[in-house]
Amino acid sequence: MEITEASAIVTGGASGIGAAAARRLAAGGARVVVADLNAEKGEALARKIGGVYVNVDVTDTEQIEAAVDKAVELGPLRVLVNSAGIGSAQRTIGKDGEFDSAHSLDLYKKVVGINLIGTFDTLRLAATAMSRNEPTGSGDRGAVVNMASVAAFDGQIGQAAYSSSKGGVVGMTLPVARDLSAVGVRVNTIAPGLIETPIYGEGPESEQFKAKLGESVLFPKRLGTPDELASMVLELVTNSYMNAEVVRVDGGIRMPPK
Ligand code: NAI
Repeated sequence: MEITEASAIVTGGASGIGAAAARRLAAGGARVVVADLNAEKGEALARKIGGVYVNVDVTDTEQIEAAVDKAVELGPLRVLVNSAGIGSAQRTIGKDGEFDSAHSLDLYKKVVGINLIGTFDTLRLAATAMSRNEPTGSGDRGAVVNMASVAAFDGQIGQAAYSSSKGGVVGMTLPVARDLSAVGVRVNTIAPGLIETPIYGEGPESEQFKAKLGESVLFPKRLGTPDELASMVLELVTNSYMNAEVVRVDGGIRMPPK
């Protein structure tokens, strides 16, 4: 699918994998809406890539609609990358046998609200706008790429909320692709392994932590770079025969229990 002069929305586009995807899409000729909560980083990136920053909390439907409207002003909206997300670590029960020390239900709802419901809300609204497009030469009206995680399959101790949210994104991929096939919009999901982004924090302690994490990768024994993920995003967007698939990009890692 051709993306030159089309518009693209990247949620979570101010940082990490989303930022790398925004750069690649802009380099490919798309007009990118960086949709994020982080105005400082989002505006700086948008300026650099000739895109537009729109303040979007993916749990706020009106803000998502505003981002979709902005994108449609810039060109036919053909690309959505759902990269906004947060991590979490908490065990399902506490150690003292008390109800109060069980996993916070508010935290569970927050993680699912951003990672899963936010992804679906953005997808349903962006795909609605895509359905109004004229098809490109390859027949597509648009393409969506979601960011799940290998934690959808190999969730570790403490990842109940995160894995639930990412498992939901994996689970929606086929039925949503089936729904959108009627209008020629493709949907694929990436399950990243361990990728070097600010999601692991910054500073010397996190550097040590990341080096240790890298040792558990099959090959190469390091964290992935955001650009290695962005490369897959671009492939899934532009390759018109990719649809309804979940692709691990993870150096072959299979996560152990902890
Ligand atoms: P990151 O922390 O560098 O970037 C995430 C971005 O999402 C940030 O700019 C943040 O402001 C934004 N964001 C957070 N909550 C938001 C909300 N409610 N509305 C709008 N924007 C919001 O993280 P990274 O590593 O680039 O992660 C991107 C996606 O990839 C996430 O969904 C994450 O779960 C997933 N992922 C990352 C992995 C990694 O190792 N870095 C591994 C597997 C999945």
